[in-house]
Amino acid sequence: MIAGKPFEPGERALLIDSKERRYLVTLQSGKQFHSHMGTLEHDALIGELEGVRVQASKGGRLLAVRPTLSDFVLKMKRGAQVVYPKDVGLILVYADIYPGASVLEAGTGSASLTLALARAVGVTGSVVSYEVRPDHHDQAMANVDSWFEGIGGVPENLELRVGDVFDDVAGETFDRMVLDMPEPWRAVGTTTASLTAGGIICCYLPTIPQVQQTVDALRSWGFGMIETLEGLVRTWKVDGLSVRPDHRMVAHTGFLITARKLSN
Ligand SMILES: C[S@@+](CC[C@H](N)C(=O)[O-])C[C@H]1O[C@@H](n2cnc3c(N)ncnc32)[C@H](O)[C@@H]1O
Repeated sequence: MIAGKPFEPGERALLIDSKERRYLVTLQSGKQFHSHMGTLEHDALIGELEGVRVQASKGGRLLAVRPTLSDFVLKMKRGAQVVYPKDVGLILVYADIYPGASVLEAGTGSASLTLALARAVGVTGSVVSYEVRPDHHDQAMANVDSWFEGIGGVPENLELRVGDVFDDVAGETFDRMVLDMPEPWRAVGTTTASLTAGGIICCYLPTIPQVQQTVDALRSWGFGMIETLEGLVRTWKVDGLSVRPDHRMVAHTGFLITARKLSN
């Protein structure tokens, strides 16, 4: 017998068809999932272990698992462009987001990165995330509420604030700062005053002129250990004799700059 927790009503399930198309559903007893494969009763999944394969009414098979955070983020509604999983992983490692860290983030955008930061700091850390646009903040709140629904609710150590990060953080201190916004160099003199000695700032930027301006600002404000990188992820097809890189890849997304706050 395989160990595991059966699907329950109110939980999310990710359904994957034979062509790898993915559908996110919230299970409700008596409801149906409709697609080109016909219908699937949610009750066919409730009580089953994840990893179960079920048949839709027109005969097509669907695999059902609980969505990972990355699965959820790629399906959730977006106000602003999200940070993709390949870059989220790099940010967590290069910005050294650890359990117990206090993290300042801006802008929240659609909250893709916010959710990953909240998970990485754990129950002993904290995340404060600023978003200047109320409409983006509202979408981020909706996404955060949706992710945490059914898994204990939004943790108290995750706070989403509406506001301009250049104005609003005076008086607080943070171990880490993660800025995914167009002009982070404007924050280097003011916002980063709230960074603890040795603390890490991580900026995520799509273009090289933005990178140059940010690195110059970090240098002029006395930050050290400044590094810039980008991550390229290439998936492969491995099928019999056909073993080769996939034809398509997400090529350019953004550059990552990390730097440490020096104490003198
Ligand atoms: C690319 S999006 C962030 C996406 C987010 N990291 C995610 O993964 O969903 C950039 C966001 O920064 C916000 N922003 C720009 N300047 C800001 C500022 N000074 N303070 C707070 N938020 C700001 C924008 O409104 C926008 O929503």
